[in-house]
Amino acid sequence: DVKALIDKLDKENALSLDEWEELIRGRCDQVAEYAAEIARQRSKEIFGNRIYTRGLIEISNYCKNNCYYCGIRRDNRQVERYRLSREDILSCADIGEELGFRTFVLQGGEDAYYTDQVMCDLIREIKERHPNCAITLSLGERSEESYRLMREAGADRYLLRHETADKDHYKSLHPQEMDFDHRIQCLYTLKDLGYQVGCGFMVGSRGQTPHTLAKDMVFIQNLQPAMVGIGPFVPHHETPLKDQAQGTVEETLYLISLLRLLQPKLLLPATTALGTIDPRGREKGILAGANVVMPNLSPISVRKQYELYDNKICTGDEAAECRHCLGNRMQSIGYELVVDRGDAPV
Ligand code: SAM
Ligand code: FES
Repeated sequence: DVKALIDKLDKENALSLDEWEELIRGRCDQVAEYAAEIARQRSKEIFGNRIYTRGLIEISNYCKNNCYYCGIRRDNRQVERYRLSREDILSCADIGEELGFRTFVLQGGEDAYYTDQVMCDLIREIKERHPNCAITLSLGERSEESYRLMREAGADRYLLRHETADKDHYKSLHPQEMDFDHRIQCLYTLKDLGYQVGCGFMVGSRGQTPHTLAKDMVFIQNLQPAMVGIGPFVPHHETPLKDQAQGTVEETLYLISLLRLLQPKLLLPATTALGTIDPRGREKGILAGANVVMPNLSPISVRKQYELYDNKICTGDEAAECRHCLGNRMQSIGYELVVDRGDAPV
């Protein structure tokens, strides 16, 4: 039965494709609670009640891609585009270190303005000013040469969600010019270059099934990433997927728990998207086995413009200080934000 599969996953940290599918299909409240309890325990054994934070700096909402689900896709003429200058980004990092962040995530659309030269200068400068901080990049698909140069300049980690491990599903979520095999290859390249790599996917994206999710889990089992970011799909009103249903809290939490059992040392964020569809989503994510939060550190003036999906939280003036807000939220469930780079445990 399903609980036996959870025990097996907990013990062996691996399942077959068929077992994964059965486990994912078999979710009910009772099974999910069973998985969450063990997942929370595993997380506590490794991380205690310490939650890692990453300061998220959304450097640009220009993007050359046209993903069907994404609010900053190229064809969305309604977004006001922005890009942060070198000075803007450096000042975010300065403020961030002051606030207690020891990791900065530079995320953005695929924007040609950020050439290898621009990125490498920026990475070096951040590292010079904040030698005790880690830099995570999340800038989409780039060349191997580009990944190498940025790694040499000092970048430590790279987040590139694989989005789905099923090629046909991938094709149904992206226009033809986007290539599934290339995205997967990027993840292996990044790993070879010595980055701590994060992959991930949206829960409840159009066309996702227990079978495609089982493939995601097997893919992760093989890749052995340092981090996996998952959050619910949330529709954006200016995209082709605007009428699709959003992903559910329950399924997202269940998959977080299963990921914790698959790889106990995994860095697993309770994402902003989860906090968007449920006011206590991030707290629930931690209680399901997550151990990372990524507070927004972007300048307030641009936050509304980095709207990947509708009603994204932390974009108003009242959200100026997400680190403190999240600190309080974590305290309310018996956890604490720590001042730490939060590298993947070896
Ligand atoms: N351009 C980079 C890339 O492609 O990896 C980083 C930025 S991209 C906007 C970051 C992630 O946002 C994507 O990997 C996707 O999973 C997520 N995302 C985009 N649209 C979303 C939506 N409507 N709901 C939930 N997540 C979404
Ligand atoms: Fe941004 Fe709470 S985390 S306002």
